Amino acid sequence: MEEKILIIDFGSQYTQLIARRIRELNVYCEIHPFNSLPKLHNKISGIVLSGSPYSVNDNDAPNFDFLKFSDIPILGICYGAQLIAKKFHCEISQSSSREYGRAKLSNIKKSKILNNIKLDSTVWMSHGDSITNISSNLEIISSTNDVNVAAYEVKNHKIYGLQFHPEVTHTTNGTKILKNFISDICGCKGCWTPKKFIDSSIIEIKNKLKNDKVLLGLSGGVDSSVVAFLINRAVGNNLVCVFVDNGLLRKNEFENVLKSYQNLGLNVIGVNAKKKFYASLKGKVDPEDKRKAIGKTFIDVFEEESKKIKNVKWLAQGTIYPDIIESVSVKGPSVTIKSHHNVGGLPKKMNLKIIEPLNTLFKDEVRKIGLSLKIPKNILYRHPFPGPGLAIRILGEVIEKRINILQEADHIFISSLIKENLYHNIWQAGAIFLPIKSVGVMGDERTYENVIVLRAVNSLDGMTADWSKLSSDFLSKISNEIINKVKGVNRVVLDISSKPPATIEWE
Ligand code: XMP
Repeated sequence: MEEKILIIDFGSQYTQLIARRIRELNVYCEIHPFNSLPKLHNKISGIVLSGSPYSVNDNDAPNFDFLKFSDIPILGICYGAQLIAKKFHCEISQSSSREYGRAKLSNIKKSKILNNIKLDSTVWMSHGDSITNISSNLEIISSTNDVNVAAYEVKNHKIYGLQFHPEVTHTTNGTKILKNFISDICGCKGCWTPKKFIDSSIIEIKNKLKNDKVLLGLSGGVDSSVVAFLINRAVGNNLVCVFVDNGLLRKNEFENVLKSYQNLGLNVIGVNAKKKFYASLKGKVDPEDKRKAIGKTFIDVFEEESKKIKNVKWLAQGTIYPDIIESVSVKGPSVTIKSHHNVGGLPKKMNLKIIEPLNTLFKDEVRKIGLSLKIPKNILYRHPFPGPGLAIRILGEVIEKRINILQEADHIFISSLIKENLYHNIWQAGAIFLPIKSVGVMGDERTYENVIVLRAVNSLDGMTADWSKLSSDFLSKISNEIINKVKGVNRVVLDISSKPPATIEWE
């Protein structure tokens, strides 16, 4: 990587946001916990010190010896700024009340970091401590109504501190301030583009795999699809994809997705394993039991299929950056590693080496790579769909009759969203089957049938979500169509819960 910014994480909730903002400037950056740094043998263009829930005056406050890198430009944000100031003999003390929310910059001095930032620009503050006594090493370059030191620079160094958060969109010129640091101070040109990523990944994959065969489990989702097309570009048919029909996908999904992958030139094997999955789910009603049964069956099926392919040495995975970022634990300086292996213990069992070409990318960057690889938009912009599929949208036991009912109802809902151009305004939608019966009347006959729930949510990343406000005309059309066409349903209801406190899926 020609240009790289290092972000040192002290446990702030905004650390990933800093990374995303820097990458939006087409500059590659990596997040590392303050207490688990890699060997820094590659060239680093600049370092950003993040915020933190700690006070720099705490006994166990996270620390980082930034002076070792003082020939590299450094930007401290919030806690990072206070840590730098403390090292330069400033006084940091607890404010009488926590400053939280918008503030306006005053007394802006000439400084590279605040170049072209206007007086009264809005910035986002979130801190309990403030820099209260500044040493002669530092120069204040901006204040606000509440704090004397809103921004500073260290004399005779390329070191800057911001008490506010430039990475949060409420800071109106936040991107400009970060750009001043990244471009003008660190000298980055912004060469990290999707094309550059693809070109360098292809070289890297070719060097790694040589003539070896590599296996990939396709799910129909964005991440595994992008991995497939990227590796296929590098090694062609040496990439063997396995797409398993677990019988829990949407109506016609397996056939449609398999056909489109094959038409796009991927070497894909479709495996019908419905019966095995249904057998493993027999009698199970607890959501976690269902998930475990599906996960285990998937590994069994995948292992069985992969044994049929000779000379495979590698397993490719669609792991993305948020899955592997080591996060700083707020309770102490221990490090929790989130790992994500959708095929569990398989690599060890089969003695396979792992290749994860997307493990430096955020989700939106994966889509950009996909667009650049010319993957069709209907694959790249498909709603998220859970690995356990419809099994966690059928409450109670998963039996074939219920799956068929749910597939039909879900199909009516999703195809209507597409027809009415609503699909892409919604983050995720689907139907849920409730195994309870209620009384209805159809023609002159009394009915006693099941309930279908419609769930549609808007969200950024699935962590929080709000229910989508679909029009009553649209909803009544869907409700009529489901009740008229899907045998076994006589009532349709709408889920109007947000996450939290509810979750997106019902199980
Ligand atoms: P929840 O229900 O936790 O869902 O609000 C958040 C997002 O995660 C998806 N989800 C899953 N995806 N395996 C997956 O691959 C799972 O077991 C699983 N559970 C939930 C869900 O569809 C939503 O997008």
